[in-house]
Amino acid sequence: MTVKESIVSLLDSSKGTYISGENIASRLSVTRSAVWKAIKALQSEGYHIEAVTNKGYSLSPDTDILSVQSILKYLDNSAKALRIEVHKTVSSTNSIARELAMAGEPEGRVVVSEEQTNGRGRRGRRFFSSAGAGIYMSLLLRPTFSAVDAALLTAAAAVAVAVAIEQVSGRKTQIKWVNDIYMDGKKVCGILTEASSSLENGGLEYAILGIGINSFEPQGGYPNDIADIAAPVFNGESGTEDVRNRLAAAVLSSFMVYYGELDSKAFLQEYKKRSLVIGKNITVINGTGSIPAQALDIDDVCHLKVRYEDGREEYLSSGEISIRV
Ligand code: BTN
Repeated sequence: MTVKESIVSLLDSSKGTYISGENIASRLSVTRSAVWKAIKALQSEGYHIEAVTNKGYSLSPDTDILSVQSILKYLDNSAKALRIEVHKTVSSTNSIARELAMAGEPEGRVVVSEEQTNGRGRRGRRFFSSAGAGIYMSLLLRPTFSAVDAALLTAAAAVAVAVAIEQVSGRKTQIKWVNDIYMDGKKVCGILTEASSSLENGGLEYAILGIGINSFEPQGGYPNDIADIAAPVFNGESGTEDVRNRLAAAVLSSFMVYYGELDSKAFLQEYKKRSLVIGKNITVINGTGSIPAQALDIDDVCHLKVRYEDGREEYLSSGEISIRV
């Protein structure tokens, strides 16, 4: 950890109380001047750190900065074994997690970032990932089941996010097949699962579950291409009640429960309950074009049963749909 990261971690562990510069310096084995310089840099990065003569430094309790300590503080036992790292900015948390996976990192590593410079969405799209406006995280898994069941991971993650958002925000969520979370008709979260399967046994070598949650309206608003569809989970300004750390922890805690009992598919009931598409007129977008259909049901492997206008029925395992109004 750098001096700055160590100071954030120290102040974060006793948010709202003062720690003297001398105390910080001796705990980190650095000079007081190095502490002062690091505090100045952190303040200019937006950390609400108060400096009071004869008292020291204190991180304001309303600071809503993602940190390992804060996320750990809110994690349930189900997720306590996860190994979490938090970055200020990365290209893509999925890319970092994939590199770790390829280097042999065991299951349970979580890469979180305040910002992504190259956040990736499904179908090669970019995912808007601006600093302070979201939670961008990727969880490295090494599931023992076959690649065919990988879709269930995404569905379990969608339910975990939906439940976690409801717990922390008190607002209702819906799931648009297969993996988008909506609130009041707008998308608040997207999930991108990237897996590598073994050619030998058809199993999964690893799966990276990438979750991007829009937490707060970004300064200057959303870019034009998503302004009509994207919305944040929380209204108002960021920086209150540690909500992003609480939400990140709630997502991980909830997902680890569903992941531990994936075979029972208990989450599917919760998934269907929140479905935004069952019973709706939709457009199925595939390689050949856009086909009008009706969404009938979601089966026990999370495939979407649709009926086309010629009466033909099909189970979709992946792909893109839009809802017709
Ligand atoms: C989508 O809506 O198309 C899926 C978006 C997934 C975005 C998340 S943010 C964390 C992780 N890192 C990425 O680059 N993408 C995923």
